[in-house]
Amino acid sequence: MKITADNVNKHYSNYIKYLIKNNKLDTSLLCSYELSFIKTKIKLVNANNKNNILIDFLDKSFTNRIKKMNRKNEIFYKIFKKNKANILDCTGGFGKDSFILHSMGHSVTMIEKNPIVTILLKNALERFKISKFSNNKLSLFHGDAYDYLYNTDQDFDYIYIDFMFDKSKEKLSSKNIETLKILTNNYNKKDELIRLAINKVKDRIVIKNYKKNLPLYVGKSDYTIFTKLLRYDMYLNRQDVK
Ligand SMILES: C[S@@+](CC[C@H](N)C(=O)[O-])C[C@H]1O[C@@H](n2cnc3c(N)ncnc32)[C@H](O)[C@@H]1O
Repeated sequence: MKITADNVNKHYSNYIKYLIKNNKLDTSLLCSYELSFIKTKIKLVNANNKNNILIDFLDKSFTNRIKKMNRKNEIFYKIFKKNKANILDCTGGFGKDSFILHSMGHSVTMIEKNPIVTILLKNALERFKISKFSNNKLSLFHGDAYDYLYNTDQDFDYIYIDFMFDKSKEKLSSKNIETLKILTNNYNKKDELIRLAINKVKDRIVIKNYKKNLPLYVGKSDYTIFTKLLRYDMYLNRQDVK
Protein backbone atom coordinates (compact mmCIF):
# COMPACT_ATOMS: atom_id res chain seq x y z
CA MET A 1 0.00 0.00 0.00
CA LYS A 2 1.30 3.41 -0.96
CA ILE A 3 1.10 6.18 1.62
CA THR A 4 1.40 9.85 0.72
CA ALA A 5 1.22 12.70 3.20
CA ASP A 6 1.90 16.40 3.51
CA ASN A 7 3.62 17.79 6.60
CA VAL A 8 0.35 18.54 8.39
CA ASN A 9 -0.53 14.86 8.43
CA LYS A 10 2.88 13.26 8.94
CA HIS A 11 1.90 11.94 12.39
CA TYR A 12 -1.00 9.95 10.89
CA SER A 13 1.04 8.48 8.05
CA ASN A 14 3.95 7.66 10.36
CA TYR A 15 1.55 5.81 12.66
CA ILE A 16 0.23 3.68 9.80
CA LYS A 17 3.78 3.02 8.53
CA TYR A 18 4.81 1.99 12.05
CA LEU A 19 1.89 -0.48 12.28
CA ILE A 20 2.71 -1.99 8.89
CA LYS A 21 6.43 -2.28 9.68
CA ASN A 22 5.72 -4.03 12.96
CA ASN A 23 3.19 -6.44 11.45
CA LYS A 24 0.34 -4.93 13.43
CA LEU A 25 -1.66 -4.16 10.31
CA ASP A 26 -2.17 -6.62 7.48
CA THR A 27 -2.14 -4.67 4.24
CA SER A 28 -1.40 -7.67 1.99
CA LEU A 29 -4.78 -7.29 0.28
CA LEU A 30 -4.29 -3.56 -0.17
CA CYS A 31 -1.51 -3.59 -2.82
CA SER A 32 -3.54 -1.52 -5.25
CA TYR A 33 -4.52 1.06 -2.62
CA GLU A 34 -3.08 4.44 -1.78
CA LEU A 35 -3.76 6.17 1.51
CA SER A 36 -3.51 9.87 0.87
CA PHE A 37 -3.19 12.44 3.66
CA ILE A 38 -3.39 15.83 2.00
CA LYS A 39 -4.41 19.02 3.85
CA THR A 40 -7.71 18.51 5.66
CA LYS A 41 -8.76 15.44 3.70
CA ILE A 42 -7.69 11.86 4.16
CA LYS A 43 -8.77 9.39 1.51
CA LEU A 44 -8.18 5.84 0.45
CA VAL A 45 -7.83 5.38 -3.29
CA ASN A 46 -8.14 2.07 -5.09
CA ALA A 47 -6.06 2.30 -8.28
CA ASN A 48 -7.90 -0.69 -9.80
CA ASN A 49 -11.41 0.69 -9.79
CA LYS A 50 -10.55 4.37 -9.21
CA ASN A 51 -12.78 4.28 -6.19
CA ASN A 52 -11.96 7.04 -3.70
CA ILE A 53 -13.07 6.56 -0.16
CA LEU A 54 -13.47 9.87 1.57
CA ILE A 55 -16.00 9.86 4.37
CA ASP A 56 -17.87 13.15 4.26
CA PHE A 57 -20.88 13.65 6.53
CA LEU A 58 -21.62 16.90 4.70
CA ASP A 59 -21.83 15.15 1.31
CA LYS A 60 -25.22 15.08 -0.45
CA SER A 61 -25.46 11.29 -0.13
CA PHE A 62 -25.64 11.78 3.63
CA THR A 63 -27.51 15.07 3.86
CA ASN A 64 -30.24 14.08 1.36
CA ARG A 65 -30.99 10.91 3.27
CA ILE A 66 -31.16 12.86 6.52
CA LYS A 67 -33.48 15.48 4.97
CA LYS A 68 -35.85 12.82 3.57
CA MET A 69 -35.90 10.67 6.67
CA ASN A 70 -39.07 10.52 8.75
CA ARG A 71 -40.84 8.18 11.16
CA LYS A 72 -42.43 6.23 8.30
CA ASN A 73 -39.42 5.56 6.08
CA GLU A 74 -36.54 5.33 8.56
CA ILE A 75 -36.34 1.96 10.30
CA PHE A 76 -34.16 3.38 13.10
CA TYR A 77 -37.19 5.30 14.42
CA LYS A 78 -38.90 1.94 15.03
CA ILE A 79 -35.84 0.45 16.68
CA PHE A 80 -34.49 3.33 18.76
CA LYS A 81 -37.71 4.66 20.27
CA LYS A 82 -36.32 6.68 23.19
CA ASN A 83 -35.66 10.36 22.63
CA LYS A 84 -32.14 11.68 23.04
CA ALA A 85 -30.74 8.28 23.98
CA ASN A 86 -27.12 7.51 24.76
CA ILE A 87 -25.95 4.96 22.17
CA LEU A 88 -22.78 2.92 21.83
CA ASP A 89 -21.99 1.81 18.27
CA CYS A 90 -19.50 -1.05 18.73
CA THR A 91 -18.71 -1.27 15.01
CA GLY A 92 -18.15 2.25 13.69
CA GLY A 93 -17.08 1.38 10.11
CA PHE A 94 -17.65 4.38 7.84
CA GLY A 95 -19.98 5.93 10.42
CA LYS A 96 -23.14 5.82 8.31
CA ASP A 97 -25.44 4.24 10.88
CA SER A 98 -24.01 6.34 13.72
CA PHE A 99 -24.48 9.50 11.72
CA ILE A 100 -28.16 8.71 11.12
CA LEU A 101 -28.65 8.05 14.85
CA HIS A 102 -26.87 11.30 15.69
CA SER A 103 -29.12 13.15 13.23
CA MET A 104 -32.15 11.76 15.06
CA GLY A 105 -30.95 13.60 18.19
CA HIS A 106 -29.14 10.79 20.00
CA SER A 107 -25.67 10.97 21.54
CA VAL A 108 -23.52 8.39 19.81
CA THR A 109 -20.13 6.94 20.74
CA MET A 110 -18.49 4.98 17.93
CA ILE A 111 -15.78 2.39 18.49
CA GLU A 112 -13.63 1.25 15.57
CA LYS A 113 -10.74 -1.15 15.82
CA ASN A 114 -9.19 -0.97 12.36
CA PRO A 115 -6.56 1.83 12.29
CA ILE A 116 -7.12 2.80 8.65
CA VAL A 117 -10.91 2.93 9.01
CA THR A 118 -10.44 4.89 12.26
CA ILE A 119 -8.25 7.51 10.60
CA LEU A 120 -10.75 7.96 7.73
CA LEU A 121 -13.62 8.25 10.20
CA LYS A 122 -11.75 10.55 12.59
CA ASN A 123 -10.90 12.85 9.70
CA ALA A 124 -14.57 12.97 8.63
CA LEU A 125 -15.61 13.73 12.20
CA GLU A 126 -13.06 16.55 12.52
CA ARG A 127 -14.37 18.19 9.33
CA PHE A 128 -17.98 17.72 10.48
CA LYS A 129 -17.30 19.13 13.95
CA ILE A 130 -16.30 22.53 12.60
CA SER A 131 -19.51 22.75 10.56
CA LYS A 132 -22.70 24.43 11.78
CA PHE A 133 -24.48 21.04 11.88
CA SER A 134 -22.40 19.54 14.66
CA ASN A 135 -23.63 19.45 18.25
CA ASN A 136 -20.64 17.51 19.58
CA LYS A 137 -22.78 14.48 20.36
CA LEU A 138 -20.96 12.17 17.97
CA SER A 139 -17.63 10.81 19.19
CA LEU A 140 -15.13 8.13 18.23
CA PHE A 141 -12.70 5.90 20.07
CA HIS A 142 -10.12 3.67 18.44
CA GLY A 143 -9.88 0.17 19.88
CA ASP A 144 -11.76 -3.02 20.54
CA ALA A 145 -15.39 -2.54 21.55
CA TYR A 146 -15.15 -5.35 24.11
CA ASP A 147 -12.28 -3.61 25.92
CA TYR A 148 -14.06 -0.26 25.77
CA LEU A 149 -17.32 -1.65 27.11
CA TYR A 150 -15.58 -3.69 29.81
CA ASN A 151 -13.73 -0.62 31.13
CA THR A 152 -16.24 2.19 30.69
CA ASP A 153 -18.34 3.67 33.52
CA GLN A 154 -20.76 5.22 31.04
CA ASP A 155 -24.35 4.00 30.80
CA PHE A 156 -25.76 3.30 27.35
CA ASP A 157 -29.49 3.03 26.60
CA TYR A 158 -28.76 1.12 23.41
CA ILE A 159 -25.74 -0.80 22.16
CA TYR A 160 -25.58 -1.27 18.40
CA ILE A 161 -23.58 -3.99 16.62
CA ASP A 162 -23.16 -4.40 12.85
CA PHE A 163 -20.64 -7.07 11.82
CA MET A 164 -22.66 -7.61 8.63
CA PHE A 165 -20.14 -8.61 6.00
CA ASP A 166 -17.91 -10.81 8.18
CA LYS A 167 -17.49 -14.12 6.36
CA SER A 168 -20.33 -13.11 4.06
CA LYS A 169 -20.05 -13.97 0.40
CA GLU A 170 -22.79 -11.54 -0.47
CA LYS A 171 -22.24 -9.20 -3.38
CA LEU A 172 -21.96 -6.06 -1.37
CA SER A 173 -23.93 -2.98 -2.13
CA SER A 174 -21.17 -0.54 -2.96
CA LYS A 175 -17.47 -0.33 -3.77
CA ASN A 176 -16.97 1.40 -0.42
CA ILE A 177 -18.42 -1.55 1.43
CA GLU A 178 -16.33 -3.97 -0.67
CA THR A 179 -13.24 -2.04 0.45
CA LEU A 180 -14.37 -2.03 4.07
CA LYS A 181 -14.64 -5.80 3.85
CA ILE A 182 -11.04 -6.09 2.61
CA LEU A 183 -9.81 -3.74 5.32
CA THR A 184 -11.42 -5.34 8.31
CA ASN A 185 -10.80 -8.86 9.49
CA ASN A 186 -13.30 -11.23 10.94
CA TYR A 187 -13.76 -10.69 14.62
CA ASN A 188 -13.67 -13.87 16.64
CA LYS A 189 -14.92 -12.62 20.02
CA LYS A 190 -18.45 -11.80 18.90
CA ASP A 191 -20.20 -13.90 21.55
CA GLU A 192 -18.17 -12.37 24.38
CA LEU A 193 -18.92 -8.86 23.16
CA ILE A 194 -22.65 -9.57 22.81
CA ARG A 195 -22.86 -11.22 26.27
CA LEU A 196 -21.08 -8.27 27.89
CA ALA A 197 -23.34 -5.84 26.02
CA ILE A 198 -26.52 -7.62 27.20
CA ASN A 199 -25.21 -7.37 30.77
CA LYS A 200 -24.22 -3.72 30.62
CA VAL A 201 -26.82 -2.07 28.38
CA LYS A 202 -29.59 -0.11 30.12
CA ASP A 203 -32.35 -0.88 27.63
CA ARG A 204 -31.48 -3.21 24.73
CA ILE A 205 -28.84 -4.18 22.23
CA VAL A 206 -29.51 -4.17 18.51
CA ILE A 207 -27.69 -6.52 16.12
CA LYS A 208 -27.93 -5.79 12.40
CA ASN A 209 -27.63 -8.73 10.01
CA TYR A 210 -28.75 -10.00 6.62
CA LYS A 211 -32.36 -11.12 6.68
CA LYS A 212 -31.58 -14.60 5.41
CA ASN A 213 -28.78 -15.18 7.96
CA LEU A 214 -29.36 -16.89 11.26
CA PRO A 215 -29.11 -14.60 14.30
CA LEU A 216 -25.49 -13.89 15.11
CA TYR A 217 -25.78 -14.77 18.77
CA VAL A 218 -26.73 -18.21 20.10
CA GLY A 219 -29.06 -16.84 22.78
CA LYS A 220 -32.65 -16.30 21.67
CA SER A 221 -33.42 -12.71 20.81
CA ASP A 222 -36.31 -10.97 22.58
CA TYR A 223 -37.69 -9.86 19.23
CA THR A 224 -36.63 -9.09 15.67
CA ILE A 225 -37.56 -6.36 13.22
CA PHE A 226 -37.24 -7.25 9.53
CA THR A 227 -36.82 -5.01 6.51
CA LYS A 228 -36.69 -6.17 2.89
CA LEU A 229 -33.03 -7.20 3.16
CA LEU A 230 -32.07 -6.92 6.80
CA ARG A 231 -32.91 -8.19 10.25
CA TYR A 232 -32.38 -6.36 13.54
CA ASP A 233 -32.23 -8.77 16.48
CA MET A 234 -32.96 -7.16 19.84
CA TYR A 235 -31.78 -8.40 23.22
CA LEU A 236 -33.12 -6.69 26.33
CA ASN A 237 -30.83 -6.03 29.27
CA ARG A 238 -30.23 -9.12 31.41
CA GLN A 239 -27.75 -9.34 34.26
CA ASP A 240 -27.72 -13.15 34.35
CA VAL A 241 -26.18 -13.87 30.92
CA LYS A 242 -22.91 -15.72 31.47
C1 LIG B 1 -19.96 -3.73 8.79
S1 LIG B 1 -18.84 -2.53 9.35
C2 LIG B 1 -19.89 -1.39 10.16
C3 LIG B 1 -20.52 -0.43 9.21
C4 LIG B 1 -21.19 0.70 9.95
N1 LIG B 1 -22.38 0.26 10.65
C5 LIG B 1 -21.54 1.84 9.01
O1 LIG B 1 -22.72 2.28 9.01
O2 LIG B 1 -20.65 2.31 8.28
C6 LIG B 1 -18.04 -3.29 10.73
C7 LIG B 1 -16.92 -2.44 11.33
O3 LIG B 1 -16.74 -2.83 12.69
C8 LIG B 1 -15.37 -2.90 12.99
N2 LIG B 1 -15.24 -3.85 14.11
C9 LIG B 1 -15.45 -5.20 14.08
N3 LIG B 1 -15.29 -5.73 15.30
C10 LIG B 1 -14.98 -4.69 16.13
C11 LIG B 1 -14.70 -4.60 17.53
N4 LIG B 1 -14.69 -5.68 18.30
N5 LIG B 1 -14.43 -3.40 18.06
C12 LIG B 1 -14.43 -2.29 17.29
N6 LIG B 1 -14.67 -2.31 15.95
C13 LIG B 1 -14.96 -3.49 15.38
C14 LIG B 1 -14.71 -3.35 11.70
O4 LIG B 1 -13.34 -2.97 11.68
C15 LIG B 1 -15.56 -2.62 10.65
O5 LIG B 1 -15.01 -1.36 10.35
